[in-house]
Formats: sequence, structure tokens, C-alpha cells
Amino acid sequence: MSTWFLLPLCVLTCCCSRSNGALSCPDMCTCHFSSSDTKVVCSDDSLSQFPSDCLPGNTTSLSIQSTNLSTITANHLQATPLLNELQLYYNNLSTLPSDLLRAVPHLHTLDLTGNHLHFLPPYVFSHAPLRNLVLKNNLISGVDADWLPDNSNLTWLDLSGNHLTAVPTALFQKLRHLKNLDLSHNRLEKLLAGALNPLSSLERLNLEGNQLSALDPSAFRNTPNLTHLFLQENQLERLPPTLLQGLHRLEFLFLNLNRLGHISNTLLEQLSSPWTSNHLWVAFSQNPWVCDKKVEDLWKWLQKNQKKAFLADDIRCASPESLKERSVMSLTDSELGL
Ligand SMILES: *[C@@H]1O[C@H](CO)[C@@H](O)[C@H](O)[C@H]1NC(C)=O
Ligand SMILES: *[C@@H]1O[C@H](CO)[C@@H](O)[C@H](O)[C@H]1NC(C)=O
Ligand SMILES: *[C@@H]1O[C@H](CO)[C@@H](O)[C@H](O)[C@H]1NC(C)=O
Ligand SMILES: *[C@@H]1O[C@H](CO)[C@@H](O)[C@H](O)[C@H]1NC(C)=O
Ligand SMILES: *[C@@H]1O[C@H](CO)[C@@H](O)[C@H](O)[C@H]1NC(C)=O
Repeated sequence: MSTWFLLPLCVLTCCCSRSNGALSCPDMCTCHFSSSDTKVVCSDDSLSQFPSDCLPGNTTSLSIQSTNLSTITANHLQATPLLNELQLYYNNLSTLPSDLLRAVPHLHTLDLTGNHLHFLPPYVFSHAPLRNLVLKNNLISGVDADWLPDNSNLTWLDLSGNHLTAVPTALFQKLRHLKNLDLSHNRLEKLLAGALNPLSSLERLNLEGNQLSALDPSAFRNTPNLTHLFLQENQLERLPPTLLQGLHRLEFLFLNLNRLGHISNTLLEQLSSPWTSNHLWVAFSQNPWVCDKKVEDLWKWLQKNQKKAFLADDIRCASPESLKERSVMSLTDSELGL
């Protein structure tokens, strides 16, 4: 009897590694089975197709990383209806189908860091009860409010390292549960008044590495639970005196690497008021502080609150010429003209 007809059978079984006894696992992947979940990790750079064959039907966590995967569809995910975490970082995806999450009703975490995503269709993240969505380091220049459902329960959204030129305010209308928003390393120039108002649960906001040159005085008026505010590496020249009003839970405020020359006493007072958290840390360094008479407020604040300032010695004068590079804290009464 010839053996040619056995070949298809062999192809089916040979695609699985059977290191876990009778448990199947796709080639080029490793599978971890436990009584509560099944985790599959595929990180072979020659993988260029979704590893459908032998994927355990009860997979709860699937991670495909650093591969050549360029397409993923709803049909692929249909094989794993119990999936709650899907990590697809550093692959070759440039878009996603709008029904991708149709067959994964338990998915709470989707991480697409480091692909080439630029355009995404409406409803793309609408079909699953997502709580964490990471789109870091892609090529996204515009965010569509239709990506997410109206009753979204998202608590973590990471859009850092993209090409955004505007804050996605229309999407924010749907994110009343959002706690953590990362918009760092985009091309944002403005934060319009009211832009953050729908995000009343927000606790961490990262705007590092943008081109913000001014902030509206009421920018944070409706986000009273903010604990972490990252504004470093922007072009901020001044801060509205009442900017931090009501932020009684603030613990980390990063303002380093901006263009601040002066800071108002009202704002400094808020940073050491009895309402403010005792654990507050502020970073003021690497700004071109103007050490004229008006720097006195900052100088006094630093004398009393040195422990709250990161790298306090590095808060230096940029002008006048005679005080250039001097640490603000080290200035004497006479240098301050007192
Ligand atoms: C998943 O399926 C495998 C094989 O059928 C089984 O051994 C494992 O216990 C299952 N895991 C869960 C969490 O049900
Ligand atoms: C990646 O996949 C594409 C086809 O999708 C193929 O042309 C290319 O050679 C693959 N690259 C590597 C490194 O395997
Ligand atoms: C990514 O996929 C495209 C086709 O979609 C292919 O031309 C390209 O070679 C792939 N990139 C890598 C690094 O393999
Ligand atoms: C958000 O959570 C609520 C309450 O648990 C639930 O009714 C609603 O369906 C969830 N929204 C989505 C999009 O899953
Ligand atoms: C702010 O945080 C407190 C305590 O964690 C919580 O009870 C409250 O609901 C939060 N406020 C909003 C608007 O989410």
C-alpha cells in the first residue's frame, strides 16, 4: 500500500508540539496550562500567519510578539472564545478589521504596541468589554470616537508614541471610567478648555514629549482625582496661577524640560497647601528660570519644601547672565535684591 495518502494527516499532527503530553500547542509557540488559565506565547520572528492550528480552545491569554504577522481576523479569534488578554506587540500589523473582536466576549486587555497601525475602521474595539487598550508606538494620526462603544468601561488608554496632532476629545465623551491616559510623545500643541471634562475618574495623565505651549486655566477643573500629572518635555512658558486648583490628590507633577521662566506664588501655594497630599513630588528642573526679583517666590518655596522637589539643586537660573547656571536654592538675599 502506498503511503502518500498519510501525508495530509502528518501535516495536521506535525504542526503541533506535544511537549505537554496530550495537550496541543502551535508550532513556534509555547503554551502554559494551569487549572485557571491557558497562556500561549508566540515569539518566533519567522511567524507570518496567525497560529490557528493546534491553538488550545480554552486559551485565555495569547501573546504574539516580535513576529512578521501582518494580518489578524475575527475568524482567527473565533477559535479562542475564552480569551481575556491579547497581546500583539512588535508585529507587522498595519490595520485591523472592524469586526476583529466579535468572537471574544471576555477580552479585557488588548495591547498592540509597536505595529504600523495608521488607520483603524469604525467599531474596531466595540465588540469586546475592553478595560485596557494599548496602541503605543504606532503611526496613528487621528482617533475616531466610533472605535469604542458608548458604554465603554475602559480604564487604561495608551496612545503614546503616535502622530496625534489633536487631543481626541470626541472619544473622551465615552470614557467616564478612564483612570489612566497616556498621550505622551505625540505632536499635541493644545489642550482645549473642557477637553478633559468627561474624564472625571482620571488619576494619571501623561502629556510628556508634546508641543504644548499653553494650558487653559480650567484644563484640570473636572479631574479632581488626578494623582500623576506628567507635563515634562513640552514648550510651556507659563502656567495659569489657578491651574492646580482642586487637585488635592496630586502626588507627582512633572514640569521639567519646559520653557518656564517664572512661576506664580498662587500656584506654589497650592503645591504646599494643607489640602495637598503629603507625598507630593514636583519636578521643576531644566527650565530657563529668570532669576530676577520675581524668583523670590520659588526660592522661598524651595527653602521650605526642598523635600518635595526632584533634583532641587538642578533648578537653575538661565538669566541674568551674572547668575547663569546658579542653583535657585543657592541664591543669597543680596543676589535676589532683597
Ligand atoms: C484547557 O484544556 C486543557 C486540555 O484540554 C486542559 O488540560 C486544561 O485543564 C484546560 N484549562 C482550563 C483552564 O480549563
Ligand atoms: C514577512 O512576511 C512577508 C509577507 O507577508 C514576506 O514577504 C517577508 O519576507 C517576511 N519577512 C520575514 C523576515 O520573514
Ligand atoms: C510587513 O508586511 C509587508 C506586507 O504586508 C511586507 O511587505 C514587509 O516585508 C513586512 N515587513 C517585514 C519586516 O517583514
Ligand atoms: C460596562 O460595564 C457595565 C456594568 O458592568 C455593563 O453593563 C456594560 O455592558 C459594560 N460595557 C461594555 C461595553 O461591555
Ligand atoms: C475619586 O476617588 C475616590 C476614592 O478613590 C472615589 O471614591 C471617587 O468615586 C472618585 N471620583 C470620581 C469622579 O471617580
